[in-house]
Amino acid sequence: MVTVKQHIGSADAALRQRAQRVIPGGMYGHLNTSRIAAGMPQFFSRAQGCYIWDVDGNEYIDFMCSWGPIVLGHGDAEIEQAAEAQRQLGDCLNGPGPVMVELAELLTATVRHADWAMFAKNGTDATSYCVALARMATGKRKILMASGAYHGTAPWCNPTTAGMLPDDRAHVLKFRYNDLESVRVAVAEAGDDFAGIVVCPFRHDVRFDQEMVDPAFARGLRAICDAAGAALIIDEVRAAFRLHHGGSWEDLGVKPDLSAWSKAMGNGYPIAAMLGTDAFRTAATQIFATGSFWFAAVPMAAAIATIKALKERNAVHVMEATGTRLREGLASQAEHYGLAIRQTGPVQIPFMTFANDPDFVKAEVFARVTAAHGAYVHPTHNWFLSTAHTSTDIDRALQATEQGFLAVRRQYGEG
Ligand SMILES: Cc1ncc(COP(=O)(O)O)c(C=O)c1O
Repeated sequence: MVTVKQHIGSADAALRQRAQRVIPGGMYGHLNTSRIAAGMPQFFSRAQGCYIWDVDGNEYIDFMCSWGPIVLGHGDAEIEQAAEAQRQLGDCLNGPGPVMVELAELLTATVRHADWAMFAKNGTDATSYCVALARMATGKRKILMASGAYHGTAPWCNPTTAGMLPDDRAHVLKFRYNDLESVRVAVAEAGDDFAGIVVCPFRHDVRFDQEMVDPAFARGLRAICDAAGAALIIDEVRAAFRLHHGGSWEDLGVKPDLSAWSKAMGNGYPIAAMLGTDAFRTAATQIFATGSFWFAAVPMAAAIATIKALKERNAVHVMEATGTRLREGLASQAEHYGLAIRQTGPVQIPFMTFANDPDFVKAEVFARVTAAHGAYVHPTHNWFLSTAHTSTDIDRALQATEQGFLAVRRQYGEG
């Protein structure tokens, strides 16, 4: 058993205790640290670039990037200036600011399949609206999604059934990612009630190794939707802007009819987008889509600045380079300690699992010890890079992961 510096101190513990009294379960949702390795901090006080600090003052190189939104680094000066300039003018007004039109123009110019854009706040808003739009435009009900995929917390797709009704997902059918035959079976089941398919650009289900899309699968989905007159919806919420400045499948030449965006779009400012083709424009005018904060101007200004900066800074290539450095570093450390690991998904959205670790116990030791030495990774969910990570940061983080591997080796031996 390895002794790890106990870095979770009194401020975190005190906040957890107070939270227990006033927040159900002390915390909820995917940020609930009690779901992952013991010894990971729950509360954070600040962040800058690729660094975060917990409430006890411990510093970490951040490989979760707020679970995706932070793509240019925390507190990026250019984005903050754009947001601040809009804040001085106004944010939540009686109507949107000019930034709404500017952002829609920028997105339709950036994303090849997009003829129009609408905005919301969260990924769930965007995926759910796309699903509604597919149903509205086709007049059909059945939506196909991959088993294990996460599209948000709405009743049609919530990963648990607690508080949801079987009726809520009565018209949702499942297929296996990258398995066209399973899609055909679901399409046959949908019969003449087939409204659309919602699919992520690559498989990034929690607690599973990631899986890149098979181009034949992507093209097959497009052909199946075309043949049936159904909508192909890409859920870009997690992958967007890290694989391609436009849509994640643009290099494959596969264009969806609708796509859902959020997370990295505003470098941390709350914004989501639904993008679509002209064929879905009328339907998009018919559904009542709105929200008290959906038209707020500051996140739109931040999104404009973020998308421009991503292009100007050649963000995808920057993250590819640092992601490759991280992947190679982890591979050679694991080999050095005789540990079999799997690294999956794009290097910009990396994930690492250990062989013979079905319950993620090695991964938890690794995450806890790595955090104790100053790099924050997650044991069961994919990680994220930002353009703020430099090769020096990666090398520093690798000093922490080395300790993580050492701890796993000492506790579980080779293999
Ligand atoms: C692929 C995907 N779709 C949808 C969502 C839901 O987004 P949000 O949590 O902003 O509602 C997420 C969130 O992690 C996601 O990763």
